[in-house]
Amino acid sequence: MTTPGTMQLDVHLTDADAEAALRSDVRHGLTARPKELPPKWFYDARGSALFEKITELPEYYPFRTERALLTDSVADIARSSGADTVVELGSGSSTKTRLLLDAFTAAGTLRRYVPQDVSESALRGAMDELHEAYPGLALHGVVGDFTRDLHRLPGADPGGKRMIAFLGGTIGNLLPGPRQEFLGHVRDVLEPGEQLLLGTGLVTDREVMVPAYDDAAGVTAEFNRNVLVVLNRELGADFDVDAFTHVACWDEANEWIEMRLRASRDMRVRVSALDLDVGFLAGEDLVTEVSAKFRTEVIDEFVAAAGFEPTRRWIDPDHRFALSLLTAI
Ligand code: AVJ
Repeated sequence: MTTPGTMQLDVHLTDADAEAALRSDVRHGLTARPKELPPKWFYDARGSALFEKITELPEYYPFRTERALLTDSVADIARSSGADTVVELGSGSSTKTRLLLDAFTAAGTLRRYVPQDVSESALRGAMDELHEAYPGLALHGVVGDFTRDLHRLPGADPGGKRMIAFLGGTIGNLLPGPRQEFLGHVRDVLEPGEQLLLGTGLVTDREVMVPAYDDAAGVTAEFNRNVLVVLNRELGADFDVDAFTHVACWDEANEWIEMRLRASRDMRVRVSALDLDVGFLAGEDLVTEVSAKFRTEVIDEFVAAAGFEPTRRWIDPDHRFALSLLTAI
């Protein structure tokens, strides 16, 4: 039962868990063909700071498009939802959180906010600030991985209703199989009538999409290469980080942006914590991220397959980003 103004933090992901997951992902990814690494390992402190810088770049339209869309629609979203608990997956961005909390407070329904993130320190910091700003709100943080720990989210209060917000277009970073699996898990933890607010990038002009992932100032290139810095530090690898070139391309068939790191020469890399030696040929690519963009028909299909019905949708005037309010059936 939710008590106003209380704070709770559940930790379901320890440093040791994260370390084990990193080892397994790197061993698998560097021995796969083509070589690949999951994008979640970009986000150490430096990677998170670089991502913040990306959100301020003129080319990176997704962040500010979603923020403007949310600003314009959030009162509507809160009224259509009526949730007393807002859950936010990967609750990195505080401006979007406050937009949601203010609107749900104004709608008169909000009692509890449940932020989920992989970073315990980020979550603690955010919760302390929110506790000051929203003293009557119950805060229940969950440190965990949203692809693994959804069943750890607190349940609905009796007669209450939760809305899970999954913003930023992060669902586009999941390949189709894992994406369907993830949405199925989200559906499984909800009761019929509870909701998911999903932010998705839409398919738009290639001339708009590609520069967003290949900015002139080179911030995205640094962000991309940062995953190698993480491997060097965490796993005692010896990547020559500057010998990898940032590549961003639009995959027409899959309708996703693919980010890669291209070896500029033949290389042999040692990952000492894994006792693993990996060879790269000049020109060989390591795939570091896909960022899928969607058509609204495709969103409707995959959410329906997971057991959701589209309730409302908001799209920016340039048709670059969508917020979909989905109801579990
Ligand atoms: C906001 C995490 C979804 O895919 O657009 C930004 C990450 N990658 N630039 C995205 C990202 C390269 C971003 N997400």
